[in-house]
Amino acid sequence: MADLLIQINREKGGIAGQIAAELRDAIRGGRLAPGTRLPATRDLAADLQVSRGAVVEAYEQLVAEGFLTSRVGAGTRVAPRTPTAPGAPPASARRDPGSTGVCGGYYGHRPTSPDLAHFPRQGWLAAVRHVLTTVPSDALDYGDPGGVPELREELAGYLCRVRAADVRPENLVVVGGVAQGLSLVLHVLSRECDLSLAVEDPTSINQVPLLRRAGARLVPVPVDEEGLDVRRLAGEAAALVTPAHQFPTGVVLSPSRRAALVEWAHAGGRLVLEDDYDAEFRFDRDPVGCLQGLAPDRVVLSGSVSKALAPGLRLGWVAAPPELAGAIRRARGELDLGSPVVDQYALAHFLRTGGYDRHLRRMRREYRRRRDALAAALSEELPRVRVKGIEAGLHMYLELPDGWTEQEVVRAARELGLSAEPVGPMREFAGPPAVVVGFARLPAHQAAEVVHGLKVRMSGQKIDPGGRLA
Ligand SMILES: Cc1ncc(COP(=O)(O)O)c(C=O)c1O
Repeated sequence: MADLLIQINREKGGIAGQIAAELRDAIRGGRLAPGTRLPATRDLAADLQVSRGAVVEAYEQLVAEGFLTSRVGAGTRVAPRTPTAPGAPPASARRDPGSTGVCGGYYGHRPTSPDLAHFPRQGWLAAVRHVLTTVPSDALDYGDPGGVPELREELAGYLCRVRAADVRPENLVVVGGVAQGLSLVLHVLSRECDLSLAVEDPTSINQVPLLRRAGARLVPVPVDEEGLDVRRLAGEAAALVTPAHQFPTGVVLSPSRRAALVEWAHAGGRLVLEDDYDAEFRFDRDPVGCLQGLAPDRVVLSGSVSKALAPGLRLGWVAAPPELAGAIRRARGELDLGSPVVDQYALAHFLRTGGYDRHLRRMRREYRRRRDALAAALSEELPRVRVKGIEAGLHMYLELPDGWTEQEVVRAARELGLSAEPVGPMREFAGPPAVVVGFARLPAHQAAEVVHGLKVRMSGQKIDPGGRLA
C-alpha cells in the first residue's frame, strides 16, 4: 500500500480536483509506479483530513481517465500503462503543463462524451452476473450477426416508447455504435449505387473519414436556425442528419423541415440516415420524437448507449426498412460475425429491469445542473459569448465575440480541463467563429472557476502552470 505525499490547499476549494491533480502528477512523473496500490479512500481521507467523498471523487475521476484501475477485492491501483487511455487529455494538451486545469480535472475527451465516473457499475455488474448465471452455454456460441433476439426485442420496445420510433425487432440490427451502424449502412448502399450523401454543414468532423471510407461522396448542405436547409438538397441518394440535436450547432430540426425532408426522401426514393446520438438528454423543450417514426420506410435510425452509458461499451443499433435491415445483417455476418453476446444480454437485462431508465433519469438531472451552472457562469463572466444549442445533449455551441479566435479559445478551454473543439474545420461554408464545449464532466461547483479562468486567459493575463493567477 503506497504512502503518499499529497499537498492540498484547503482555502482554494475544489479538494477532489486538487487530490486528482496531485495523484495525476505523481503517476506521470513516475513517483507512483504502475501497479502500485493506493490507500483506501477512508485512510487517505483521514490522512489528509478531508471528506471521504472528495477522495472517492478524485479516484473515480482518475479511473475514468485511465490513470487508476479499481477492482473489488484488489483495491485501487495505478494502471499498468497510463494514458493515452480514453478520457485522458489529448497528447498535445498533456505536453502543456497547464493541461490539468485550474481545478485539476480533465472533463472529457470529446465534447459529447458523458461523465464516465457515473457509469452504473453496480447495475451493469448485476446485469452481467445475471447473464452469466442464467444463459445456457449454447448462447455463448456465434450468435445471429443481427444481434441476440432478447436485446432486439427490448430495444424495439424502448425505441417505440421513448423515441416514438416505428420499429420491430426484425428491423433492428445490433451494432458497435452509431459509427459502425453508419459504416455498415453506407457500405451496403454504396455497393448498389454511386452514393452521393448530403451532410449537414457544419458537421461532426470525426465522422467524415468513416463516411468516405464506406464509399460515400459527401455533399455539404448548410444548417441554419431551423436545422438542415432542406431546400438546398438536390439529387443526392441520401442525407445524413442529426435532427434531435444537430451536431455541432445544437439546433433542433423544425417541424416544417422535418416534413420537407421526409417529402424529399419519398419523392425521389431516397434515404434519410438519422443519427440519434444524444437524444436521451433533453432538458428544457418538449420531447422530439425521432424522424424514423414519421417515415419508417425512408429513414434509417442509428443510436447507441455511448452517451447514456459509456462509449467504450461499443453497443448501438440500426433500425432500417426490412430489406435494408437484412442486407446490413448479412454484411455484419460477412465482415465480423456480430457484437459480443454477453454485453448484448446484459443490456437487454438492464433495459428490461428498468436500470437503463433509472440511470437516464438520474443523469438527466445531473447534466442539467452542470449545464445550468456553466451557462450561468458564461453569461455572468463572458456575456459577449453567445451560448447556443443547450436545450439538449452534453455540449454547448459557443459563438465567439470579435477578436477571439477559435484556436485560442480551444487551447485555453483545454488548459482548464474542458473538452473543446473548433467549429471552423467542421465547415465548408463560411460561418461565425465558434467552438463546441462539453459540460458533462464539469461538476457544477467548478463551473464558475473554470469560466473565470477562461476569461482571464482570453484577456491575456498571466497564469502560472498550475492554473493560478500569477
Ligand atoms: C454527432 C455524433 N454522431 C455519432 C457519434 C458516434 O457515436 P458512437 O459512439 O455511437 O459510435 C458521435 C460521437 O461522439 C457524435 O458526436
